[in-house]
Order: sequence, then structure tokens, then C-alpha cells
Amino acid sequence: MPDASHIHDTPPPGAAPDWTIPQNWDAFSADEHAMWDRLCDRQSNMLPGRAADAFLRGLDVLRLSRSGIPDYRELNARLTAATGWSVVAVPGLVPDAVFFEHLANRRFPAGNFIRRPDQIDYLQEPDIFHDVFGHVPMLADPVFADYMVAYGRGGLRSLGFGALHKLARLYWYTVEFGLIEEGGALRAYGAGIVSSHAESLFALDDPSPNRIGFDLLRLMRTEYRIDDFQQSYFVVSSLAHLLKVTVETDFAPLYQELNVLPDIGVAEILPEDRIYTRGTQEHVTGRTPQT
Ligand code: PHE
Ligand code: FE
Repeated sequence: MPDASHIHDTPPPGAAPDWTIPQNWDAFSADEHAMWDRLCDRQSNMLPGRAADAFLRGLDVLRLSRSGIPDYRELNARLTAATGWSVVAVPGLVPDAVFFEHLANRRFPAGNFIRRPDQIDYLQEPDIFHDVFGHVPMLADPVFADYMVAYGRGGLRSLGFGALHKLARLYWYTVEFGLIEEGGALRAYGAGIVSSHAESLFALDDPSPNRIGFDLLRLMRTEYRIDDFQQSYFVVSSLAHLLKVTVETDFAPLYQELNVLPDIGVAEILPEDRIYTRGTQEHVTGRTPQT
């Protein structure tokens, strides 16, 4: 997710006008491939029973648990066949409009570096493991694939209203940290959860965070934190519902409303919330990974 911290306004040397760069897969070292394997094994072992069905299916269809950093030439052959999406490499965070333009055209921009061994649990910027292992399996799901396209279009539209700050919350609490109810249990589909060992445990099992039923306006009023585990997660009843509600709602009047409604704190519960679990909020430290 792009934010104000990107430094460049124009593509850095070597990048195309749309900010993409060649993946240059042959340049990854044995150590870098080994880092992928280590992260991938750790997550693949814990995610059955924790990650959403769509995510696990995506891992399988895309064969993401094969050894080594995925070569996009092979990955995209499978991904494009499934939903028309592809992954493109970018040098790092890209400007908001560039990011949305890629999503609207079924391209997912992924960072082109992998964390070092000393960064295994903590990273400030998304790396290939977060971007590809975390995000790409869901893009093989036809419903979620359409949601991300709609989000890209909606993102471009939000810029005209100066409302990106509010729309970004929707990305945060769905694409990055979303939970879904499946067969009466909660599962994770958010990339920030499924790519993080610690947050996969925390988001689903820890007594600390709130888990609240998805409500579009309520969610878009809610602040979020990027320096620790979430203090509240939002639960969708299905991906189809998420897609339907966001596509069928005109966000222009919503942005108007959001301009006058007060923001909601990260741990706050409202009387009208549909609560899955009311968190103890005992974990509030300000450490931790977002990837
Ligand atoms: N319906 C939204 C709008 O009118 C666009 C959107 C769709 C945003 C899906 C996010 C997700 O702007
Ligand atoms: Fe992400």
C-alpha cells in the first residue's frame, strides 16, 4: 500500500514510465531463494485451518510453495489463466495514482527485494514475500480479483475527492488485515496477516484484539496503526458480500459523510457493532511487523 513516505515523484532510473522494472529473476542469489523457502515453509505449515479457503486454493493453483522466489514468467502464466491478473516488479513504493492504475488494469505491483535473515520477523517496507506470498494467492480468486480491480478504480476516483486517506482504511482492514467467517470459524485473508507468522497467530487466537463484523461506513471511520498488530480486525461474511457492498455503494456521498463524522479509535467498540470477540487489549506495545 503506497503512502506519503515514498521519495520519488518520477520513476527512478531503469524503471518504465509506469514504474515497472524487469523482475530479473536470474539475479536472485541462492541465499535469497533460501530465505523465500524458509518463510514459505513456516507459513505453509501454519496456514491450513487459519487462512481463508480462497487463499489456500490460490497457493495451490499458483504452486507458490515450490522452492525458490517465484519467477513471474511462470507465476503469471497461471495467474493470468485464472483471473487475468499479473504481477509486475516495481522498485519500491510507487505514487498512489500509479498504484491504482496498475490495480485497475489487473496488475499487482510487487517490491523486488527479499528481507535479510536479521529481518525475518520485522520489516518496514513490503518485500517479495509479503507482496507475492501474501497478496497474490487471493488474486487467483475470481471474486477477490474483481474486488481489487474495483478498488483500483475507486482509488483513482478517491483522488478527485481528496478522500484517499479514508479509502486507504478499506484497503488496510480488508486487503491487508481482513478476516472472513467460514463454516462458523474465523479465517484470515489479509496479506499482512497471512505473510506474518506472529500476526497469523495473533489475529486469530489472541484474546487482545476486537473482531468486529464488517460495516463499510464504520470501517472507513476507523483509524489504523502500522507499527504493531491491529487492535481491531473486521470480519466479512463472504468475499462476494465485500465485493457487492463496495461496488454497489457510490462512495462520493460516503466521503461527504466521513468528512463530518468523527474518526473511531483503533480499539473502540460502538454499541451498534456486531462483535465476534471483544478484545482485552492487553497487547499494546508498539513493536512488531506489518508484513
Ligand atoms: N464504489 C466505489 C466508488 O464509488 C469504488 C470502490 C469499489 C472502492 C470497490 C473500493 C472497492 O468510489
Ligand atoms: Fe501489502
